[in-house]
Amino acid sequence: MPIKGEIKFPGDKSISHRLLMLASLAKGNSLIYNISSGQDVISTRNCLESCGILITDKKDHLIVQGGGFKSPIKPLDCGNSGTTVRLLIGLLVGQGIEAEFYGDKSLSSRPMNRILQPLRKMGAMIKCNNGKLPIKIKKSKIKGIHYKSLIPSAQLKSAIVLTGLGAKKNIRYIEPFKSRDHTENLLKFLGTDIHVKDLDINLKFRTSLTLRNFNITVPGDPSTASFFATIAAIIPGSRITLKKILYNETRTGFFKLLKKIGVGIEWVSKWKESGETLGDLKVFYKNLNPININEKLIPSLIDEIPLVAILATQAKGQSKVRGAEELRVKECDRIMAICYNLKNMGANVLEKDDGFFIDGPSKLKSANIKTFNDHRIAMAFSVAGVISKSKVELDKPSCVSVSYPEFFDTINKVMT
Ligand code: S3P
Repeated sequence: MPIKGEIKFPGDKSISHRLLMLASLAKGNSLIYNISSGQDVISTRNCLESCGILITDKKDHLIVQGGGFKSPIKPLDCGNSGTTVRLLIGLLVGQGIEAEFYGDKSLSSRPMNRILQPLRKMGAMIKCNNGKLPIKIKKSKIKGIHYKSLIPSAQLKSAIVLTGLGAKKNIRYIEPFKSRDHTENLLKFLGTDIHVKDLDINLKFRTSLTLRNFNITVPGDPSTASFFATIAAIIPGSRITLKKILYNETRTGFFKLLKKIGVGIEWVSKWKESGETLGDLKVFYKNLNPININEKLIPSLIDEIPLVAILATQAKGQSKVRGAEELRVKECDRIMAICYNLKNMGANVLEKDDGFFIDGPSKLKSANIKTFNDHRIAMAFSVAGVISKSKVELDKPSCVSVSYPEFFDTINKVMT
């Protein structure tokens, strides 16, 4: 059955994390509307509250009373969230805080050396055994850095920039490919001396750095919206409008890709709000050609690759995804999880070290899906079930709450 109508989404997860952190640093009360309802963002909030920040729930917004971090008494639980741990280590070590960080099984297996090495170069005193959680930070004196990164990661970039807010010298970070730039956009919006030229980010030291408090509505999450865009792209006759979602070149790779492969994609309006652009996006069924993406494109659709794979199973011809090795160190090894589950659904898929090849179209069949406790795998394979009208049984449906607890409710709404 085609899907029709309009959908509005909770706030973007990446921006929500950053707003909570920057509001905690700013002087005075900041108001955040439409914050992400995901568990990852709740982890960030809990950690900040443990560091002495007062956060109050109001009917449709949060009030964050910023200024005055304290070293937490208990270790900080970052749950499943890479963004929480990597960004908070930077923010807090830059502010001279002592803290210990831990997370769930998945987060405890993810690589942390990528941030520890540059942060130590900046003078951060960090205790960590094997490049994995748990990690302890000690009161540190932060220096400047000029860092040319080989990893296209916004979490790494943001960790360095946030650490740099506590440095008495300039920070320069050069990324290999453009990754999401919300930290830079927000810092600029809040009055810091940050300059971005393509891949080159410069944060200039100012003797009196005080972030101003703010009142911001978080744009709808494009990564969440992508699940519904995929359903509309595949089921003939579908036409939906995704309302008030973030439009940012570093995040809209998936929508650009949809357009490129023939799907109906139309931004009906766009406007600016608090350093970011938003828009209403119409997605309608039209056509589906094979996909070919490489390392340069990957950062702008990194979280949408499970959906790229589902689309590829329905396109006529061979699709290729290469240069996506970062997927192996996400909430689970997503290349393995995609290939494992697609094979079980009867798709023609060939796993590569850094991606996969898929020959389509295939009629996907019913299967028991292993989510590997990864929210994006759970949601992508629920979409596979919807578009193929096959029964998919997820081993742990509740893991969707990491980013989008309302996922199944919204699916049910658009399918009726
Ligand atoms: C994020 C950056 C990306 C993304 C993650 C959120 C962020 O990770 O996959 O879901 O908010 O900075 P990497 O920076 O590790 O690629």
